[in-house]
Amino acid sequence: MVVAQITRQSFDAAFPVESQILEIPSVRRMSLMQQRGMLDRFDAHGFVILRCLDLSDSYQDLLGLGRYFGNPAPHPRADDQGIVGINAFKRTAGFLGSTPAEHLLHTDGAFRDAPEKIITLQCVTPAAIGGMTILASAQAAYDHVARVFPDKIELLSRADALTVTRTSQSSTQAVFTCSGEWRGIKFRMRDGAAEVAPHADAQEIFEELCRFFEAPENRFQFRLEAGDILIADNTAIVHGRTSFAPHEPRNMRRLNFDATGPACARMIFGFLPSVSSEAGSEAWLDR
Ligand SMILES: [Fe+2]
Repeated sequence: MVVAQITRQSFDAAFPVESQILEIPSVRRMSLMQQRGMLDRFDAHGFVILRCLDLSDSYQDLLGLGRYFGNPAPHPRADDQGIVGINAFKRTAGFLGSTPAEHLLHTDGAFRDAPEKIITLQCVTPAAIGGMTILASAQAAYDHVARVFPDKIELLSRADALTVTRTSQSSTQAVFTCSGEWRGIKFRMRDGAAEVAPHADAQEIFEELCRFFEAPENRFQFRLEAGDILIADNTAIVHGRTSFAPHEPRNMRRLNFDATGPACARMIFGFLPSVSSEAGSEAWLDR
């Protein structure tokens, strides 16, 4: 049996996002080499940006990702195809995605016990000013808090580490899930829309985690252009966006997946807290 090389790496503000951009004609017309390029970038850093040249029929093209990644994840604001409009055209109480406000770093589905594993975001119209996408590495964050609180890091893996609530949705779970040596993240911080309550014993280390994600040196931002599709591992990457003016026509489509598609068996999800090829290979064999 050939064991895949574990190559996922953490990143910080200095990360060259250009390396993760893959130019393609469209989702539905990717060559085999482009399909491999998409998955290799996803594995390497937990995300990839498809730069689609054909912008016609982009709604249907986004749905084409289901061929790789499985079924759309549920969302209270999704249409009948699972797509959620991310724009400020019509506000819905409790949903930052329907406002022009800053959206602090988070993972999607933190209100649910079984969050989606793959998130995608298609840019229809970017904002002229603001509305920048922000990404940060859960692996870098884990390594940081484990160094600062070596005897408390496991508190973030207890099953009642964090409760996240929004309107009628609520979930209490670990911030860092464990599967052998591998970790995954489920994260939301207090952002005006979500109620976020860490367990009392985990409060101090959770606050350090939030500080890490808020520090400019630990995250990078970029502008998604029209036709770009961000695809990210929701268990390894936290994402957010800067605010933009209410009159901006910024318009995005969110379509998340449950990672049951044919491509997912070969994809890396989560992260290894520190580089350990031996442990990594063993963990990979277990999966
Ligand atoms: Fe999100």
